[in-house]
Amino acid sequence: MQLGVCYYPEQWPRSMWADDAKRMVELGITHVRIAEFAWSRMEPRAGEWVWEWLDEAVDTLAAAGLKLVLGTPTASPPKWLIDAHPDVLPVRADGTRWNFGSRRHYDISSETYRRECLRIVTAMAARYGRHPSIVAWQTDNELGCHDTVPSYSPAALQRFRVWLRHRYNTVAALNEAWGNVFWSMEYPSFDAINLPNLTPTDANPIHLLDFRRFMSDEVASFHREQIDVLREHAPHADLLHNFMGFFTTFDHYRFAADNALDVAAWDSYPIARTESIALPDEQKARYARTAHPDVSAFDHDRYRAIGRGRFWVMEQQAGPVNWAPWNPVPASGMVRLWAYEAFAHGAELVSYFRWRQCPYAQEQMHSGLNLPNNELSPGGLEVEQAAREIAETAAFAGLGAPSRAAVAILFDYETQWMFEIQRHGKSFDYQTLVFDYYEALRELGLDVDIVPATADLTGYRMVVVPSLAVIGDSLVEQIEKSTAQWVFGPRSGSKTTGFAIPGNLPPGALQRVLPLQVLEVETLRPTLAPALRIGDTQGTALHWREHVRANGATQVDTRFDEACVTPHDGWPAVLRHGRIRYVAAWLSHDLHRSLLAQIAKEAGIETQRLPDGLRIRRRAGLSFAFNFGEQQVDVPVPANAVFVLGNSRLNRAELCVWKDA
Ligand code: GAL
Repeated sequence: MQLGVCYYPEQWPRSMWADDAKRMVELGITHVRIAEFAWSRMEPRAGEWVWEWLDEAVDTLAAAGLKLVLGTPTASPPKWLIDAHPDVLPVRADGTRWNFGSRRHYDISSETYRRECLRIVTAMAARYGRHPSIVAWQTDNELGCHDTVPSYSPAALQRFRVWLRHRYNTVAALNEAWGNVFWSMEYPSFDAINLPNLTPTDANPIHLLDFRRFMSDEVASFHREQIDVLREHAPHADLLHNFMGFFTTFDHYRFAADNALDVAAWDSYPIARTESIALPDEQKARYARTAHPDVSAFDHDRYRAIGRGRFWVMEQQAGPVNWAPWNPVPASGMVRLWAYEAFAHGAELVSYFRWRQCPYAQEQMHSGLNLPNNELSPGGLEVEQAAREIAETAAFAGLGAPSRAAVAILFDYETQWMFEIQRHGKSFDYQTLVFDYYEALRELGLDVDIVPATADLTGYRMVVVPSLAVIGDSLVEQIEKSTAQWVFGPRSGSKTTGFAIPGNLPPGALQRVLPLQVLEVETLRPTLAPALRIGDTQGTALHWREHVRANGATQVDTRFDEACVTPHDGWPAVLRHGRIRYVAAWLSHDLHRSLLAQIAKEAGIETQRLPDGLRIRRRAGLSFAFNFGEQQVDVPVPANAVFVLGNSRLNRAELCVWKDA
C-alpha cells in the first residue's frame, strides 16, 4: 500500500526541487512519476540533447529517498518536430488535420513519428535505464485520450491495407468474408480499399470493425516498440502504461499480451468520470461529491485482470479537476477514501495527480496536493492522514493480493466495438450494460473479478456474461467443463467474427449448451417498456428485447407480462437449461439485482443487500467498507470482527477496515 505523486520539475524553478522532494517524503510519498511531457526540454532542437536538468531532477528526487517512474515524452512532440514532419499531425474522420498547440497531436500510424519516438526513447533509456532509483517506466501517456486512436491519414491507409492482406490473404477472400456483393462493394485489389470514413451512409460494419481491430493493433504495436527498447536498457524496471477509466477504444487484453506490461496502471478521476458517463441524472446528482460507488471499483477490477494481478493507480484525483462538464470539490474524506478503495481492490500503489497545482496553461484549474502557493491543499492533508495511518497500521504491512472472487464478469472489447458500430437503438451501450450488472453484484456485497472471455474460468462459482457478441467453441467447452452457474445477457452469440448473423441464429454456438433461438430483436424507445416480475421485484425491459424460442429441454423461468406491449405478449424473459441462463432483454436495474441474487443463491454464494452507497471489498483477510452515500450507515460486520481502522458506523466519505478474528 504505497503512495505516489506526479511531478513536473520542468514547470518549477530548480530552487524548489529539493524542498519539494523533502516534503514529498515527509508526507509519506514513496514514488514520483516525472518527465512524460518534457520532450521540448530534453531535445529543444533536432538532435540537441539537454539532459543536465533531468539528471539533476532525478538525482534530487532519488537523494531524498524517492523511487522514480520515468515517462517517455511521446504524447507531446515538440514544435520543431512537427515543422520538420507536418505529416505527423493526425487526420480526423472528416479529413482535416489537427494542429500543434496542445498534446497527443500525432498520427499513431506515422512511420516518421514512430522512428522519432524510438530515437528519444532509446536516448532516454540508454541514459537512465540502469539508474537504481528508477523503478518503473511508463510509455507515452494515456494512449487514445482526446479521441486519438482512429487515424485517417495516408500512413494509416497504407498500413491498413497491409494488415488486411495479412488477415485475408487474397482480395477474393476479403470480398467473400465482408459480403461485398452487397451494394456492389467488391474490390479489385487490396490497394483499392479505403478507410471507412466519408461515406454517404453506413460503411460495411465489417469494414468498420476491421478498421477498429487494426487501429487497436496499431496502439499496441506503438507501445510495444517502446517496450522492446526499454526491456533492453532497463531490464530491472517495471514497465507500464497509464490506461484510462471506462475506455474501450483499443483491446487492453491484446495490448497487455506477450509480456508487453509488468503492471497495468490506470488514471482514476472518479467524480469527473461519474459526470461524464451514461448514468441516470438522479445518480449523478446523488454522487456528485463522492463519485458513484462503482465507477472506480469497476476499473480497479478490470485492470487487476489486465495486469495479471498487478495494478497501480498512476494518477488519482486529489481535488477538483478541470475537464468534466462540472467539477465540484470532493466531499471531505474522499481523497483518503479513494486510496483505500484502490488498495482494497488490490492496487500496489496509488499515485496522486499532481504534486502542485500549476498556475498557468491548460490545467491551471486542476487541483494537486499543494495549492499554487505551495500550501498543502485539502486533498494533500487527506493524503498526509492516509500515509500516517498506513504506516501505523500493522495489518497493512505486506498485505497480500486479493484472492480469486467467487463471481466473474466477462468483459470483451470487441463486443463494445460491434455494438457501437451497430447500436440498432440509440440507447444501447454494452459497457453501460456490463456496469449495470457489476453494480448489482456489488450492491449484493460481492467481490467480483472482471476477466476476458479467454480467461481460465475454473474455480468461479458464478460467471456473468452481460453480453458477448461472438461465442466461440472454446467458451462453450469451458461452460461444459465448469460447475458454475452461468448467465448470458441479450445479444450474446448474435454475431460471427466476420460481423454476420450466425447461420443457426443467435445465440450461435451457445445453443450447444443452451438450446434456444432468437427469432427477432427490438430496441425500445422509452415509451415501450415491457413489464415483468422476478421474485418480488417488478420492473421492465429497457433499450433492447428479444423474441426467443425455447428449444429442447430449455425452460422458461420468467415471461414478460401478457398484454404488456402488444396484446398476448408473454415472451420468455429468462430461460434456463440446467445451470445456464439466458436473459432476453436489458432489464431494469432492480430486476438484474434480483435475478443475480437468485443465481448466487443457487451457486451457494451468500449475498447481503447493502445500504445505499455502502460497498465492501475483501483483500487478504481484511474487509474494507466505504460509504459513498449521503446517510450515515451501520456496516453489517460479523460478530467476531476486529477493527484495524475506523468502526462500523460510517458517515459519508468514511471507511473502516476489519479482520475476522
Ligand atoms: C489525465 C492526464 C494528465 C492530466 C490529467 C488531468 O488524463 O494523463 O496528464 O491531464 O488527466 O486530470
